[in-house]
Amino acid sequence: MSAATDDGPPRGSVPDYLALTFPAPPTDRPYVLVNMVASLDGRTVIEGNERGLGSAADQRLMRELRFHADMVLGGASTLRASGLSSRLSDPALEAARAAAGRPALPISATISHSGDLPLDRAFFTARDFEAVVFLSDAAPAERAEAIAATGRPVVRLPAGHEIPELLQRAHADGVRMLLVEGGATINGAFFEHDAIDELFLTLGGMLVGGDSPRTILQGTHPARAADVAPFDLVSAIPNLELNEVYLRYRRRRVPADTRD
Ligand SMILES: NC(=O)c1ccc[n+]([C@@H]2O[C@H](COP(=O)([O-])OP(=O)(O)OC[C@H]3O[C@@H](n4cnc5c(N)ncnc54)[C@H](OP(=O)(O)O)[C@@H]3O)[C@@H](O)[C@H]2O)c1
Repeated sequence: MSAATDDGPPRGSVPDYLALTFPAPPTDRPYVLVNMVASLDGRTVIEGNERGLGSAADQRLMRELRFHADMVLGGASTLRASGLSSRLSDPALEAARAAAGRPALPISATISHSGDLPLDRAFFTARDFEAVVFLSDAAPAERAEAIAATGRPVVRLPAGHEIPELLQRAHADGVRMLLVEGGATINGAFFEHDAIDELFLTLGGMLVGGDSPRTILQGTHPARAADVAPFDLVSAIPNLELNEVYLRYRRRRVPADTRD
């Protein structure tokens, strides 16, 4: 996938995310990957959605990460802004999953407090992938009923404990690998529960600017530098033709028996 040149590194390197291996999942929740694309100044939204930030190669990497996932989760605002699916858009990838005894596609999922969801989107109307709605108990019953009427299962979660409960329910249903595809709010909610194991970030060669930037993570901010969560760089692959860098980071975790 790379074009070597005489005077430098390969200019068109794209990683092979199909070949990735991952540590065993924790015993009580899925292993959680977050995948995002950002501009050089860390923006994740242009004109209301992420379109235009990543190349076709970045899109392919997104699907290669989906290949490993049992469930692909996006926040309700991303569903409203861009739609959500768990499609791989490659019959060979679907066949490889099926040959390994897995469903051809991961389950697509969203999470919402309000239940105010666009019920005419493919997430609800398509039947080529399974989808589930995780809905806070804070949402009105009539919205839950309207969602369930689309045929998509609704899993109610206790208000204020949605993320731990989602992780627990998904784990109980056999989800070992959960891929979170943003946006920033949902990433922040997982971060708040220290439930991000790996971060895949594509950096594109553009500046976006703006006064209220949407970065890859919104939400609580640790008061002390000592509380910042460390992530170790696993790989960084530049693509000089596409002006992108493909980054993979893993959460550094201190084994329980070596903590103070
Ligand atoms: N660059 C990228 O890689 C990328 C990736 C994904 C999305 N995006 C962009 O990011 C933007 C959306 O990001 P965002 O941060 O505004 O929204 P988001 O994370 O997609 O969704 C936030 C919504 O999820 C629900 N939610 C969040 N935390 C929850 C919790 N703990 N319990 C229950 N529900 C919860 C709420 O839904 P309700 O409002 O329904 O209650 C909340 O408003 C869009 O413009 C999208 O295009 C960019």
